Amino acid sequence: YRAIRVALLGAGSVGSQVARLLLEHGDELAKRIGAPIELVGIAVRDLDAKRDADLPRELFTTDAHSLIVGADIVIELMGGIEPAREYVLQAINSGADVVTGNKALLASHGAELFAAAEQVGAQLSYEAAVAGAIPIIRPLRESLAGDRVERILGIVNGTTNFILDRMDSTGASLEDALATATELGYAEADPTADIGGYDAAQKAAILASLAFHTTVSADAVHREGITGVTAEQVESARRAGYVVKLLAICERLADPETGAEGVSARVYPALVPRSHPLAAVRGANNAVFVEAAAAGPLMFYGAGAGGVQTASAVLGDLVAIARRHVIGGPGTSESTHADLPLLPIGRITTRY
Ligand code: HSE
Repeated sequence: YRAIRVALLGAGSVGSQVARLLLEHGDELAKRIGAPIELVGIAVRDLDAKRDADLPRELFTTDAHSLIVGADIVIELMGGIEPAREYVLQAINSGADVVTGNKALLASHGAELFAAAEQVGAQLSYEAAVAGAIPIIRPLRESLAGDRVERILGIVNGTTNFILDRMDSTGASLEDALATATELGYAEADPTADIGGYDAAQKAAILASLAFHTTVSADAVHREGITGVTAEQVESARRAGYVVKLLAICERLADPETGAEGVSARVYPALVPRSHPLAAVRGANNAVFVEAAAAGPLMFYGAGAGGVQTASAVLGDLVAIARRHVIGGPGTSESTHADLPLLPIGRITTRY
């Protein structure tokens, strides 16, 4: 089968790890896909910016438009609305499938992009846009497609979870916990999007739209950040058996006035009982707790940020799409190609 041509837009912390993994593990991915993957180029704004991975210079270009032409799959990891939106539309309209991790773009222009993709039969995948490495988009879109999701409670921002956890476990003030988050590289230089709840609201919009088969945009999500949370509040919550968590809550509700069915999406610091699984989410981790009518409660947990962790979600989307390009390829991961031997139990030591 001919090589599948992949164009990457953006080489920040996630993009540079995607490129590195594609170059280092291309052979293994090719076996799973049934065709080679060719990274045809990486479009960036600044050719000389410092990258998190050592990548061949000849792959870089500032000309995203030309790179998109002729690509089978475009991976958009630039962030921001424009020109990301323009490039994604160009990719869809030139016959490419798209993988994106751009939550801001999806939370504001998702409906437009999905309609454009649907019109031409293109795939638009975005596992990396919510909760980093945690598989939550595909479970909602595919595994739970036959169920009815009633409610989602998400810890979808690692920076604020780190800060609130630190306040809870050390009694630190918000300012001191934020300073530690910055020192350890969790918080951005400008942490407004995190502590103001904007990042979580974008993710809530994406989750609510997907789970309830509707369109919720980020500016319609009720949003309160953690800026007003004090050490005293965290301490009295602790004494009462609760922990303060910034939750993204998406649920089906009946309108209290009309009784008509609707959807609520909101982000605010909430009191979570210590016995709830979400209370055990420590540090910068994320978790998404899903309540579905037939499945009951489900919990998805893991790293919600980080370049290489989030790159895992991007590559998963890439492999899934690439497999559809290969008629007669391995199709799913059930196909074997490595023939790894099953090891006898006597040689195995289990450590937990
Ligand atoms: N700033 C985000 C967080 C990164 O802290 O979770 C991932 O979107």
